[in-house]
Amino acid sequence: MTGDKNSNYLFKVIYYVVVFSIVLYSESLTQIKRELPMEQYRPQFHFTPETNWMNDPNGLVYFMGEYHLFYQHNPFGNKWGHMSWGHAVSEDLVHWQHLPVALSEENDEMIFSGCAVVDWKNTSGFGRQQQPPIVAIYTGRRNNDDRQYQCIAYSNDRGRTFTKYEHNPVIDIESDNFRDPKVFWYEPGKNWIMMVALAVENKICFYKSENLKEWSKSGEFNIDEIEIKSKIKWECPDLFPLAIDENPKNTKWVMIISTIPEPDVINSGTKYLLGEFNGNEFIIDNDTSAGLNKTNLNNIDYGRDFYAASSWSDIPESDGRRIWIGWMNNWEYADKLPTNTWKGSQTIPREVKLKIIDKSIKLIQKPVDELKKLRGERLEFTSITIDELNESIKRADIDCSSLEIIAEFDFKAHSVFGLKIRKSEKEETTINFNSIDKTITLDRSKSGVVNFNKNFAESHKTILEKSDKLKLHLFIDSSSIELFVNEGDVVFTDLIFPSHNSTGIEFFVSSGEVIIRNLKIWEI
Ligand code: FRU
Repeated sequence: MTGDKNSNYLFKVIYYVVVFSIVLYSESLTQIKRELPMEQYRPQFHFTPETNWMNDPNGLVYFMGEYHLFYQHNPFGNKWGHMSWGHAVSEDLVHWQHLPVALSEENDEMIFSGCAVVDWKNTSGFGRQQQPPIVAIYTGRRNNDDRQYQCIAYSNDRGRTFTKYEHNPVIDIESDNFRDPKVFWYEPGKNWIMMVALAVENKICFYKSENLKEWSKSGEFNIDEIEIKSKIKWECPDLFPLAIDENPKNTKWVMIISTIPEPDVINSGTKYLLGEFNGNEFIIDNDTSAGLNKTNLNNIDYGRDFYAASSWSDIPESDGRRIWIGWMNNWEYADKLPTNTWKGSQTIPREVKLKIIDKSIKLIQKPVDELKKLRGERLEFTSITIDELNESIKRADIDCSSLEIIAEFDFKAHSVFGLKIRKSEKEETTINFNSIDKTITLDRSKSGVVNFNKNFAESHKTILEKSDKLKLHLFIDSSSIELFVNEGDVVFTDLIFPSHNSTGIEFFVSSGEVIIRNLKIWEI
């Protein structure tokens, strides 16, 4: 009898545990389902804030084994406002750990864009116990009259907390469009250099300092050509030397400026100029044989969504790379994106280099090697026709919502071909190469949700100077595509908002003869 009672009791306990677990499980499924539409566009391998608004990357600095990524952030909503510096760190540029807000809006003063440096020699005197401090240099923006001035803050705990300097601002010219300081140590002069944009006047101001606290003006850079005098804003400057074709004895200084033409905001983007830095200011190359002249602000990215790119300070010389990241967005529609819990993402980190292409020095971009860590299952095809390839892709049932692809093509003259990604019956994003007029076009008109802005659906193209060969390197994530053409000679960075079931991928030839020499596809 007791045995019977016990087993009855045991049976009841098991019964209730099972029922309870089923209820819990189905609850959690409903919860996931409820959250799915909100998180539908959340990138898998691009940096996004946990919640709320993000724009420019700020304060990129490498220190004690960590890459710091600060960013323009509204901690209270997913529209621009209450600008503060959000913060994350990574040991490998791939996996990011979110940290608390590093610099907050206070006393009616927002924290606009800026940079951070390691003060190795403790020139500022902010260091403690033989440890160099990280010093952040940012624009303070007074909310009541929009006045913008440069401020500093320091950290002695590996960037975990910052103290604003008590004698801020360190530079104030009583302007309402004076922002985005970028600072670097200039070894020949043994001093710090700061660049700040006068956004509306289209000027970059140069300052010098020995201690990061007291600054004196050393020069100014602008381009006074008629073309540039049209209404345009200059923001977020950067400046660094790079070796040409990997030859450290042959270097050029690269000036980076993010520009917003008005009213044509859609064509905003990050531009570059080549020249020299003489210790006081930047002198642009006037050598037109290098393919550059004063009227040219050279495009870095031919997509619509690459802005405010900035490079990391203090990457060790033994590494030697210049790595940057950009805000994957466009001011034209940044606050209208169809994402709910957060707004804004950063591009993948990229290495920038100078390369001679057709006798001109060009800035090229390459995904950092660390991204290879994300490669999962690989499919590879060699010397295959487009039809055979499409058949194999269908059989392999590839889901292209999060992929890396490298495709090399052989083609005869007069060929037009390409591929469609995030494809379903109704949606597709098309990359089209035309060997007749040498153009490469990205068409996102049918990419998914496009109606939040009248210009979003417009396709965009550029001419490939070296078009006798074609290699496409793509990174596809839940709401973006980054396309590196040939060796990063041309790059397109574009947001897309496809339905979650638009996961197909298909190659096509509209005319001519094309063979895929080699194709590798990795799941990410
Ligand atoms: C660039 C920018 C900067 C400014 C910041 C404000 O996107 O306009 O010039 O510091 O954003 O959030």
